[in-house]
Amino acid sequence: MSNKTVAVIEGDDASPEAVKPVIELIDSLNLGIDWIYPPVGEPGEEKYGSTFPDEAKEMIDSADTTFFGSASSKATFALLHLRWGKQTYANVRPSKWIPGYHSNLADPSGIDFVIVRENLEDMYLMAEGDVEDLAPLNMISRLHKKKLEDLGKGKFAIKVITEERTKQVAKFAFELAQRRKCKGYQGKVTISSKYNMMPKSDGLFMEVAGEVGKDFPDIKCETILIDNLAHQFVVAPKSFDVVLLPNLYGDILSDECAGLVGGLGLAPSGNFGHDYAYFEPVHGTAPDIVGQNIINPTATLLSATMMLDYLGFKDEASRVEKAMAAVYAKGHVLTPDQGGRAKTTEFIDAVKQELR
Ligand code: IPM
Ligand code: MN
Repeated sequence: MSNKTVAVIEGDDASPEAVKPVIELIDSLNLGIDWIYPPVGEPGEEKYGSTFPDEAKEMIDSADTTFFGSASSKATFALLHLRWGKQTYANVRPSKWIPGYHSNLADPSGIDFVIVRENLEDMYLMAEGDVEDLAPLNMISRLHKKKLEDLGKGKFAIKVITEERTKQVAKFAFELAQRRKCKGYQGKVTISSKYNMMPKSDGLFMEVAGEVGKDFPDIKCETILIDNLAHQFVVAPKSFDVVLLPNLYGDILSDECAGLVGGLGLAPSGNFGHDYAYFEPVHGTAPDIVGQNIINPTATLLSATMMLDYLGFKDEASRVEKAMAAVYAKGHVLTPDQGGRAKTTEFIDAVKQELR
């Protein structure tokens, strides 16, 4: 296999403290990966006077994939490019409990599902404004029985669900369910939104995704209102396989689902487009623990294994996952968020030991 190039963006605050040791671990597998470092955030500012200069964009575009830490402020423009620039429309966020994860649930064993979050539209348009500017639309709130501009001084935000984007992300979710079914999973996609209150926009999401499901007769398809889904995640998390959600609900509920298995320190993600993908932990930059070498690198490490899988290193991905699982199963070297006292780098060293 020819060398793969991975663009690495270490991210803000405590994020580099997780990214650096993870890259070191993956590099020690000698897979012939070339790591390149686009000047994003501070390095970009220092060298090119911008937190996201063209040079950084070109490096991301030229790489086979990007490995991203987490962004608060400075690395945010890179994130925008990775999602909207590269059109990574499907955000895959697995929730899988493994023995040793410190979940607050009495019995988390068997939780093993994946959220597929539409990644580009819905409430993520950054199209907001003043309520009074809605006057030319001549729209009436069906509940307030008033023109929108007469609701009072305030702001609005636009939500758009399109057929095309819903179709592509739904197809992705059903194909993922098929691949999982081959590995012994249920073969089920749960589709959810608030289609009772937003019958047009969220209704369209259900309708289009349901239609796509008809092309996958081997996969069960169920629909559920989003508030009920939030409840079911807590009371019956083992019943899910693939869960397909519009962007904002997917954002919110993927944090909830990280909480089910033991916290945000454990939740990875992969963002897939037609010709690009990038990988990042679900969590933020943990500014409260910056400089302490205690950030849990599990989410970052699992994002790296998702990346290895994408790059074609499937055996190596599962080797790393097994090594990490062994560290959790033993439970001696865990970071504080998991009830341990280990440093980030000690945890990674323990995983390296298991790899030998
Ligand atoms: C996430 C984050 C982002 C989002 C932020 C940083 C814009 O919360 O990846 O879940 O809302 O999508
Ligand atoms: Mn989020």
